[in-house]
Amino acid sequence: MCGIVGIIGTQEVAPRLIEGLRRLEYRGYDSAGVATLDGDAIERRRATGKISALEARLAAEPLGGATGIGHTRWATHGIPNETNAHPHANGRVAVVHNGIIENFQDLRADLAAKGHAFASDTDTEVVVHLISQFIAEGVDPVEAARRAFGRLQGAFALGILVRDRPDVLIAARQGSPLAIGHGDGEMFLGSDALALAPMTRRITYLEDGDWAVLSTGGATIRDLEGRLVNRPEQLSNLSGAMIGKGGHRHFMAKEIFEQPQVIGDTLNAMFNPAARTITLPALPFDLAAVPRITMIACGTASLAGMVGRYWLERVARVPVDWDLASEFRYRAPVMADGGLAVFISQSGETADTLAALRYCKAHGQHCLSIVNAPESTIARESHAVLPTLAGPEIGVASTKAFTTQLVVLACLTIALAKMRGAIDHETEARLSSALTEVPARAAEVLNHDERIRAIAQSMLTPARDVLYLGRGSSYPLALEGALKLKEISYIHAEGYAAGEMKHGPIALIDESVPVVVIAPSDPLFDKTASNVQEVVARGGKVVVFSDPEGVARLRDLALDAIALPAVDPFVAPILYAIPVQQLAYHTAVDKGTDVDQPRNLAKAVTVE
Ligand code: AGP
Repeated sequence: MCGIVGIIGTQEVAPRLIEGLRRLEYRGYDSAGVATLDGDAIERRRATGKISALEARLAAEPLGGATGIGHTRWATHGIPNETNAHPHANGRVAVVHNGIIENFQDLRADLAAKGHAFASDTDTEVVVHLISQFIAEGVDPVEAARRAFGRLQGAFALGILVRDRPDVLIAARQGSPLAIGHGDGEMFLGSDALALAPMTRRITYLEDGDWAVLSTGGATIRDLEGRLVNRPEQLSNLSGAMIGKGGHRHFMAKEIFEQPQVIGDTLNAMFNPAARTITLPALPFDLAAVPRITMIACGTASLAGMVGRYWLERVARVPVDWDLASEFRYRAPVMADGGLAVFISQSGETADTLAALRYCKAHGQHCLSIVNAPESTIARESHAVLPTLAGPEIGVASTKAFTTQLVVLACLTIALAKMRGAIDHETEARLSSALTEVPARAAEVLNHDERIRAIAQSMLTPARDVLYLGRGSSYPLALEGALKLKEISYIHAEGYAAGEMKHGPIALIDESVPVVVIAPSDPLFDKTASNVQEVVARGGKVVVFSDPEGVARLRDLALDAIALPAVDPFVAPILYAIPVQQLAYHTAVDKGTDVDQPRNLAKAVTVE
């Protein structure tokens, strides 16, 4: 996902544009650039690769000016090179963009026919020439921008400089998030509150269809018809300190170690310790009456949903469908009238998940989202939101967002089961109490970090393929462990239902394929233990994550076994997520990959 920053003020902006872009690095990018209004000229510096390359350019060729825009690009149209890096500009207009302009080819042809020469392969550049064309026709620059916005189809968050109006910075939002920051005698623009955190915590989020004119004295926000609209100013809960690495080598490590805290924070928002009950926020529909639930998400979030399905069916006795957002609407699913669709998303901006939400809304579903960004598009388009309180997750690989998603799903399960009379108070108290133990147990798991690092270095780093196995609600954890390893260490890994081994994957087993088995002592343990024996009998090297009882039974079989604290099987998926995160993290560090910003990945995938 691309990142946007903008500043209009009275002091040199280039250094603070860079600082804002650094806050957006977590989104993933392949090039970056800044543009300023320096005197009466638009000046640009762009570079492929990391922001440090852009900083080197600026050191060699400094940029002046008190008004500027900056951008981190995750390539959609046009290869990642300097020519395609933002800002795009001609002598009159400079633009940064997040999203996709779907009708850019038509616009480009029309503008080229009017004599406009294009320098890049990007969709964004049409905005530069479209505004310039209107200005050339005598239209006031601000009105020219408004007219240009009306010609664009698709998703766009835009930051715009116009040479002839050095007193303003223009912005627009349609489908891609954009926020305004309020300063003293200066104003800011950012893709999210994180980008603005170094400058201000006073934030106004633009809505779809809004466009804004920022000046040193404030901002006016209008709709595309030009009518003034009022958007509230709010105080972001982010501080500069929240987005440092906290002494860890990587954001991912910090976020793994934050899990006991944020799991507790998320649980405490719904758990009543005196009554030992779970209370959800008020919902605008009758949750107890939903006949069916559909769980929809992408990537790691989808695996949280898969665990949620096991819980909701087993405990709340409600039928649950689960699907990947990118597959869901293309199979034209038949949906139960009055059903509940649950959308899980750390960023709240994932395009596939958002598209599925819109499909479900159009098909009469109650739409509930579980997000880590309450101001996100998915949250704002849902009928109700259950927030995860994980705090900003900067590492591209999702860790604390995943475990807090599980906490919310566990609370939803208990609350719904109680409403439907599927559990009595004793069971509710037992399950809720099991949840309250997780933060402390999670802290204990983190104590195994050195041991897990040694396993990663000895077993996983040298491997070409790795297999993860689990049964029941540990099966999604096997999938998640494999995904974590793949996405940050670039080692091929597969998660499999342990019972499926005999139906194919066992052919893979030999001493070169490490097998990670997730096996808490639950009703399926014995069957998983049989699968471990099948693997070992064929020379497979097995590392088992279980509890003391399970490890005692498998220790002689497995090459290595880590005993996690014994917990109620209901909450095991939350706890067992942590060691598979650690395993992937240490393997990636050992392999020297870019742990926080793995190649080709973005923190939020806002394109389908
Ligand atoms: C998880 O480690 C990945 N970064 C990715 O699978 C992610 O979970 C997926 O893209 C969904 O993102 P979201 O939670 O922001 O919707």
